[in-house]
Amino acid sequence: MSENTAETTHTTRSQAWFGGRDKVGFFHRSGIKAMGVPDRMFDGRPVIGICNTWSQLAPCNAHFRDLAEYVARGVYEAGGFPLEFPVTSLGETLMRPSTMLYRNLVSMDLEETVRANPLDGVVLMCGCDKTTPALLMGAASVDLPTIVLSGGPTSTGRRNGVQLPSGTGTYAMYDQVRAGEMSTDEFVAAEACMWRSNGHCNTMGTASTMAAIVEALGLGLTGNAAIPAVDARRRVIAQDTGARAVELVREGMVMSKVLTRAALENAIRVNAAIGGSTNAVIHLLALAGRAEVDLCLDDFDAVAAGVPLLVDLVPSGKHLMEDFFDAGGLPVVINELGSLLHLDAITVTGRTLGENVDGLTGWGSPVIRTRGDALQEDAGIAVLHGNLAPSGAIIKPSAATPELLVHRGRAVVFEDIDDLRARIDDPDLEVDVDSVLVLKGAGPCGYPGMPEMGNLPIPAKLLAAGVTDMVRISDARMSGTAFGAVVLHVAPESAVGGPLAFVRSGDVIELDVPRRRLHLEVEEEEMTRRRNEIRPGGGAEPAGGGGYTQLYVEHVMQADTGADLDFLRGKRGSGVPRASH
Ligand code: FES
Repeated sequence: MSENTAETTHTTRSQAWFGGRDKVGFFHRSGIKAMGVPDRMFDGRPVIGICNTWSQLAPCNAHFRDLAEYVARGVYEAGGFPLEFPVTSLGETLMRPSTMLYRNLVSMDLEETVRANPLDGVVLMCGCDKTTPALLMGAASVDLPTIVLSGGPTSTGRRNGVQLPSGTGTYAMYDQVRAGEMSTDEFVAAEACMWRSNGHCNTMGTASTMAAIVEALGLGLTGNAAIPAVDARRRVIAQDTGARAVELVREGMVMSKVLTRAALENAIRVNAAIGGSTNAVIHLLALAGRAEVDLCLDDFDAVAAGVPLLVDLVPSGKHLMEDFFDAGGLPVVINELGSLLHLDAITVTGRTLGENVDGLTGWGSPVIRTRGDALQEDAGIAVLHGNLAPSGAIIKPSAATPELLVHRGRAVVFEDIDDLRARIDDPDLEVDVDSVLVLKGAGPCGYPGMPEMGNLPIPAKLLAAGVTDMVRISDARMSGTAFGAVVLHVAPESAVGGPLAFVRSGDVIELDVPRRRLHLEVEEEEMTRRRNEIRPGGGAEPAGGGGYTQLYVEHVMQADTGADLDFLRGKRGSGVPRASH
């Protein structure tokens, strides 16, 4: 046994593959040796899987080949043996109909690959939006020692001296085109200016949010969330992450020791303080389901109550991730939140969350405010209930026009996304600034895959009149880079017969965020009549056609429980499958 592996206090899982001097051990070692691996790598040292979501179809993760080399260096440095493997990657900019359709599929890919192979611990390389929750979910179901390396944000984009925030800038410019304030040529010319390098969106969108949540959960090294993708320090933390993965195996620090209710509460509170994405709600609910931690939709409202908005980043504020990194990143936020967090929660560093950030208080940058100078006093995501959303709906007040948080207006209904696209800019559309835009058929089953269509575009004629926000309601999600008075994740969704299916244009809808109320002013008798007019099971045609999509539609749960597949919830452990030789 080598000097490095002498510290290993128990037989590693990988020895079930590599430890025998029999035919089975021969096959397992021989295959690996074909890659030029020396015999000493099978001496019982921790074998670390490096799960790489590199793909040219996921440009945000296109630097991961390089980054994985640094993870491997760290594994070797600490006396481990790295084995890199791919899982399906999810590129937010390209995949149709929605990456969310495939989040659960990738989680299965990761879970089954890890369990079926001789791995003692795992490094999850996450970047573009859904790659993070997908890998976290799959890893939680296996429950080996696990550590996350985020890919980091792309560099700040500018055109003609104007900052172009990833995603958010696209929505803003396209509204300018639709309002006749920007030419199509100018719009297209901005394409190459927005994402200037590898790395995920540089706003506090879903990718940045999930990277911050990884750090808040204690599943990544301190500072992991904000280091830019192209910064040399991203390589350093990659190497440190690989080294730490080896130590986690030696310490027997499985994922469930870190991923506790306290850690999830920390993530919910940090999400409020950073002005994080609404997508965090659905991903954390799904993750809790895998980890068998009791967490419900209403917890997001209750747990984050009184947490102030501290981070001034687009879309809730005006700065970008490079500015956040320069301000000190998430450790500064954690220190500022202080007693609002469970600072005694254990993390993958082997220390508590509080110990990790001790002394990391930043330099007073206005990008990260103090609690006494918060951007908003109460920044949590609000969970709404009412006859329009019996199982709940959410809104991000920090990204909405404050005057619209209490609003009553007549519905303008779009039956599905095609209907929306066909009519939203129709000059004859009966809509005014007080209307409530309603979109059906965009929930987990409905589209399927719950696309990020919840921030319905403002009708062109209202845009031209200077309208910038309206109340919008749907069973869809919204990009973390989007903003507005947008009610999302209405559950049950219209496609499975939720009350949203029965809303008609002209109905009056009341939104009252302070009272957490979403109410359709239609008598119950009339609702029953409308319900009976629609075929049992709701308004959407049942999905067929076989393949993964059919499996998904038949098993996906509603948004209020995380839209996981029902048979994937819970831990199935890392039990070694029988050898095939
Ligand atoms: Fe990949 Fe935004 S497109 S994170």
